[in-house]
Amino acid sequence: AIDPNFERTREKVDENDGVAVWGPVEPPEKRGIHGTHVAVDFDICLADGACLEDCPVDVFEWVDTPGHPESDIKAHPTHEDQCIDCMLCVDVCPVDAIDVDGS
Ligand code: SF4
Ligand code: F3S
Repeated sequence: AIDPNFERTREKVDENDGVAVWGPVEPPEKRGIHGTHVAVDFDICLADGACLEDCPVDVFEWVDTPGHPESDIKAHPTHEDQCIDCMLCVDVCPVDAIDVDGS
C-alpha cells in the first residue's frame, strides 16, 4: 500500500502541471508517487481504473508509463485541487495505491 507519510519520507523531485512527484523516480521501473492531497503511488497502481470511473469530480486522468512492470498506464491526479474528500477512490482501489489527506 501507499505510504501515507510520503511527504516526510520522500523527496519532491518534480512537478507536472502543478502536481508534485515524490521520488525516487528511475524510469521505466520506478515512477514515484504523484500528487499531494490526492496521491497515487505509480509503482503500486496496476491500472484497475476504478478510481477514474468512480471519482465524482474527475480528478484522475490516464498517463502513459511505458515499460513499468505493473502497467503501462497510470491514474494521474491531474485535478487533485477539485477533490471533495469523498474517499471513494481510496475505498475502490484494489491495491491501495491512493492516499487522500485525512484517510
Ligand atoms: Fe475523487 Fe473522492 Fe478520491 Fe477526491 S476522494 S479524488 S473526490 S474519489
Ligand atoms: Fe490504479 Fe488503483 Fe486507480 S490500481 S487506476 S489507482 S483504482
